[in-house]
Amino acid sequence: MASYKIALLDGDGIGPEIMTEAVKILELVATRNNIEFELEHAPFGANAYFDQGHAFPEVTKQVCDAADAILKGPIGLSHEESKKIPIDMQPERGALLPLRRRYNTFANFRPVFLPKGLAHFSPLKAEIIGDGIDFIIIRELVGGLYFGKKETGVNDQGRRYVSETLEYDEDQIARIAKVAFDTAQKRKGVLHNIHKSNVLKSSVLWNEVVGEVGQDYPEVEVIHILVDAAATYLCLNPRQFDVMVMENMFGDILSDQAGGILGSLGLMPSACIGPEKAYYEPSHGSAPDIVGQGIANPYSMIGSVAMMLEMSFGLEQEAKNVWHAMQSVFTQGYSTPDLSRPGADVKMISTAGFGDLVAAELAKL
Ligand code: NAD
Ligand code: IPM
Ligand code: MN
Repeated sequence: MASYKIALLDGDGIGPEIMTEAVKILELVATRNNIEFELEHAPFGANAYFDQGHAFPEVTKQVCDAADAILKGPIGLSHEESKKIPIDMQPERGALLPLRRRYNTFANFRPVFLPKGLAHFSPLKAEIIGDGIDFIIIRELVGGLYFGKKETGVNDQGRRYVSETLEYDEDQIARIAKVAFDTAQKRKGVLHNIHKSNVLKSSVLWNEVVGEVGQDYPEVEVIHILVDAAATYLCLNPRQFDVMVMENMFGDILSDQAGGILGSLGLMPSACIGPEKAYYEPSHGSAPDIVGQGIANPYSMIGSVAMMLEMSFGLEQEAKNVWHAMQSVFTQGYSTPDLSRPGADVKMISTAGFGDLVAAELAKL
């Protein structure tokens, strides 16, 4: 019997709530496919800091090192609560970025998907959604401003200053460009390269290298769009996009905007792929505003499981089944609160309700 070790990092805020639903689906998938998932929870994030004095404790590193794949819930605290933790140990800087760096997970896939039948979830007009939204943001995840040199201090005039650098070398750009071209080749053969070369020299190099890598993909059409304009097009005509590639910070911002056009960040799963290890996480945060109410939408977490099934374990059909099960819960008129407007005619369900219904749908397939 095939057996895979999965590290489960529940995280903070709504993390444990949506992780519970993901585990329901993982357990069902194991039974249905006659495989074994060895699931091991490990502390990660603000909870780990308060319990163990470190946001990414040694024990968690070991569990992750030993795992075939990692499933991670969101981490982080509200703006005010964050101040209780020293800046460098706050879970974003103390756990998440070190996790990305440790496994060099440079390729972040953020699918943005809303079938026509669920157009009512989106704040966009039905005619803009048309036959549905279906594109993928490929975000470089271990370079740029996030990982460049940083300096803070007091300058000669006695003023506090900060400097953060946006750094990329050509190899870092080439490897993410290859991932993007490969993805575009398998999809519609169109790649939107998002940049800011009218100002940033990093984008000038980025575009040069994208052009060079593109020579190996003559059948893929490359369309260059400045990042500020891309933000507008995401609202006015998101259907023009199929595969978008961009550097780390642009990808952070535009992928949350993409969640907005779907109707909720709760619809945004993701995969973070490195040369040897991959981890999977919702694109959103710990949602401190709704924690503990049992209303978080676990689609992002279960979708991350589907991406893991496909990308780490080669279970393509089962991954499709999980997506299908989630869509069919929604098309039957069920909705979590994040996706419904006041007064909308929906069957409102909780976090656990969604997980149970998805499991029931999956069991029928
Ligand atoms: P957020 O993504 O947590 O929340 C933004 C909005 O989206 C909130 O209204 C929230 O209720 C809603 N939302 C998010 N996920 C949802 C879900 N599954 N179901 C229903 N509604 C959902 O962003 P924020 O409030 O700016 O950040 C909170 C904390 O999360 C911060 O500490 C931030 O650093 C952290 N964060 C972590 C990750 C990660 O772990 N990958 C990602 C983003 C933010
Ligand atoms: C994301 C998050 C992270 C990022 C934060 C929490 C460090 O916003 O995964 O999108 O900026 O990459
Ligand atoms: Mn983000």
